[in-house]
Amino acid sequence: MSAATDPSLRPRVLLDCDPGHDDAIAIVVAARNTDLVGITTVAGNAPLTSTTHNALVMRDLLGIDVEVHSGSSRPLVGEPKHAGHVHGESGLDGADLPESTTPLDGTDAVQFIVDACHQHDNLWLVPVGPQTNIALALQKDPTIAQRIAGISLMGGGSFGNRSTMGEFNIWADPEAAQIVFASGAPMIMAGLDVTHQFQATPTRIERLRAIDGTLATTLADLLVFFSMMYQRNHDEGHLQGGAMHDPLAVLALTHPTLFERVNRHVVVETQGEYTRGMTVIDERRLIERKAANVAVLTHVDADAAFDLVAEAVAHFTP
Ligand code: BDR
Ligand code: CA
Repeated sequence: MSAATDPSLRPRVLLDCDPGHDDAIAIVVAARNTDLVGITTVAGNAPLTSTTHNALVMRDLLGIDVEVHSGSSRPLVGEPKHAGHVHGESGLDGADLPESTTPLDGTDAVQFIVDACHQHDNLWLVPVGPQTNIALALQKDPTIAQRIAGISLMGGGSFGNRSTMGEFNIWADPEAAQIVFASGAPMIMAGLDVTHQFQATPTRIERLRAIDGTLATTLADLLVFFSMMYQRNHDEGHLQGGAMHDPLAVLALTHPTLFERVNRHVVVETQGEYTRGMTVIDERRLIERKAANVAVLTHVDADAAFDLVAEAVAHFTP
């Protein structure tokens, strides 16, 4: 029995995202394996209009009845930063996407998040983009940190991808991430150390393409583009395909046995000239170190995780 076949085993999730190729995969996996109470969008990989459009397109492709609310168009401090060098200008370059046919359900994601935290017991917030919306929700109503089951996020790591130590989601809004990490809510962190283990290899992409149907073909095309960008941006031979970061923040909840984790104290650096946007993970073994506030994922069974991606895509393929 699994979360896919037994709805009573599904964690209740609100997915906050900036689609984004790997965000699109996270939406598919969440739709299949969680009790998905809503999708909220944030500026990140692309401007808010694009990430919101992309979320609506994914909802249409899946044919799911889940509300989509748009949120923050800029970080708490400074100017918006996007990732066209990875996801293209649209945030989802590489596939011939249809226009969205269903309307946006609201434009106040922050209030939607606060309301959802009060309406649903045992809710997990799953931010897989910059954490602006979640930080604003925590500022608006700090009591939600104690109400929710926790926050399972994609971000951070012991190395960076937008700067030496800054991973994109944290680097794009460090002040928001700092609020989230200091919130006191139970936290799971899928950082680059684990997400780089989950690559869209050519074999995996062809496995999706073989499922056939619009969703599978679209995702395969998207991952071809995504992998091409990753390989263009890294040393030759370093990666076999794009790192599918975001679905791991969902799978950590639905299939926790696929992961190894360590409990650590983690804070976000907001000041450093070279380290702004770094997740500072306390690896010391000193007895007097601060108590852990985050379960940091360290290893994933990538083949088993990809089996779940393929199963979810096949499920939504007529
Ligand atoms: C994160 O940044 C984005 O480009 C991806 O969607 C992922 O959430 C990886 O650093
Ligand atoms: Ca993302």
